[in-house]
Amino acid sequence: MLLLLGAGVLATGSGLGALLEGCAQVAPVTITLALNPATIPAGVPVEVPFAMTNRSGASVPSSVWLLKAPDGSFTAYDPRCTHALCRYKWVAAETKFACNCHDGEFAIDGTVLAGPPPRPLNKFPLRDSGGVVTVDVPGDFIAPRESLGT
Ligand code: FES
Repeated sequence: MLLLLGAGVLATGSGLGALLEGCAQVAPVTITLALNPATIPAGVPVEVPFAMTNRSGASVPSSVWLLKAPDGSFTAYDPRCTHALCRYKWVAAETKFACNCHDGEFAIDGTVLAGPPPRPLNKFPLRDSGGVVTVDVPGDFIAPRESLGT
């Protein structure tokens, strides 16, 4: 009986731990992008700069890569490489994103093409409401590291 009671306490404790862990996540910061979505061409990633204050109070100048689909919907890519948070760039001639820190490469859909990045590019949740485009940036966001050679 005592053993069962202990197991119940443990189960409740682990549930509480998971709940607290979920609460520990930093709330995102919603950024309104300074752009007219009608002027963004479809099929070509466009870097849109923004400045934000993260939840720690730090001022963070950064950007987001926007990709407009033929149907007019957008994907917003985190500007940081998933390997070590370096800034990457779009290489139009090769239709890929390239990160010069360690030669990581991503396809236009964010999947890894080459190099050490462990996963596809991260995406920011995006809303397009009547021509006003907002993205939800993680509240603990920090600016990308500058790549070598950029
Ligand atoms: S940080 Fe981009 S490949 Fe290492």
